[in-house]
Amino acid sequence: MIVLGIETSCDETAAAIVTGERNILSNVVLSQIADHEPYGGVVPEIAARAHLDHLDRLIAESLVQAGVGLGAISAVAATGGPGLIGGVIVGVMTAKAIALACGVPFLAVNHLEGHALTARLSDGIGFPFLLLLVSGGHCQLLLVAGVGRYRRLGTTIDDAVGEAFDKVAKLLGLGYPGGPQLEQAALAAISPRRFELPRPMLGRPGCDFSFSGLKTAVRRCLAGLPQPLPEADAVDLAASFQTAVADVLVERTGRAIALAAAADPDCRTLVVAGGVAANRYLRTRLAGLADQTGWRFVAPPLGLCTDNGAMIAWAGLERLRLGQSDGLDFAPRPRWPLDPTAHHAGGVKAAKGKT
Ligand code: KG4
Ligand code: ZN
Repeated sequence: MIVLGIETSCDETAAAIVTGERNILSNVVLSQIADHEPYGGVVPEIAARAHLDHLDRLIAESLVQAGVGLGAISAVAATGGPGLIGGVIVGVMTAKAIALACGVPFLAVNHLEGHALTARLSDGIGFPFLLLLVSGGHCQLLLVAGVGRYRRLGTTIDDAVGEAFDKVAKLLGLGYPGGPQLEQAALAAISPRRFELPRPMLGRPGCDFSFSGLKTAVRRCLAGLPQPLPEADAVDLAASFQTAVADVLVERTGRAIALAAAADPDCRTLVVAGGVAANRYLRTRLAGLADQTGWRFVAPPLGLCTDNGAMIAWAGLERLRLGQSDGLDFAPRPRWPLDPTAHHAGGVKAAKGKT
């Protein structure tokens, strides 16, 4: 089986060709960072137009790099949501057109399921596993029992963790998108715990997260520092923030390990996925946690953590193998929770319906 995967839900236009034997024949990603940088964040209209401008060429390039023609494709998978609706429409319409023209199945993949199943593509792990999903739009702990079988153990009640990285990076003048730059800055810190920042939710029952207070605390810290901010202060504050985030993620994940083990004794693997999983400091801290608890720890290669087409192709492949596909009447979904039965966590954004 050979599947074409298309990802257009945010600010990366991506196409990839993946086989059922877990071979990534090509994985082409075009970042739109330069388009959005002047605005300090992703502008949905600009993102949608950029996807439209580049997607056809990227798909052609993914086929050339893989050395296959459209005739060899068994199915076409595209992110069907959640994400910025303009971009999702571009990817879904393109995928439907190719599937129809080639007479092969179309699969609308949940972007979060793409992240969730990446460790099965990169490391071939089996079910069940505990997933810490940390991206620009989400921060969740999920018990993954199988394809399409997710039980949410915790979620953020306000900001996503990547969003917190990006906002703090902006406050520190580190540029956009911010997460990778903040990690880089933190490496230069002399005293990475110099600034006393809160650890929101630490010690509370359950596995939910909160990051907006941490961002506010960084803003308060900044108000007491000289401006323009000396580099030594910026890097120490970046590291203090990153340490606080990791402390919270590790403690919450530790609780989820206990819950997951109680719910399913076969669950002994911790997986981290999503853009923030590319953070090396966080990976090291989570590996330490898994070590302490005797669990296996799996973190996909950095390029498969941030948005890409290979994860969408793979999730499509997994569903295809189970005999699943989607109709050409599939409607793109701006919101699409992995565990639809999970209650809404409290908080302002949850109240507004953010997944
Ligand atoms: O999964 P992703 O590529 O897109 C979404 O689905 O949201 O995640 C993007 C997020 C951004 O907030 C970005 O700043 C963050 O992942 N990110 C990082 C790192 N690399 C990407 N955050 C911290 N450290 C990194 N190295
Ligand atoms: Zn993502």
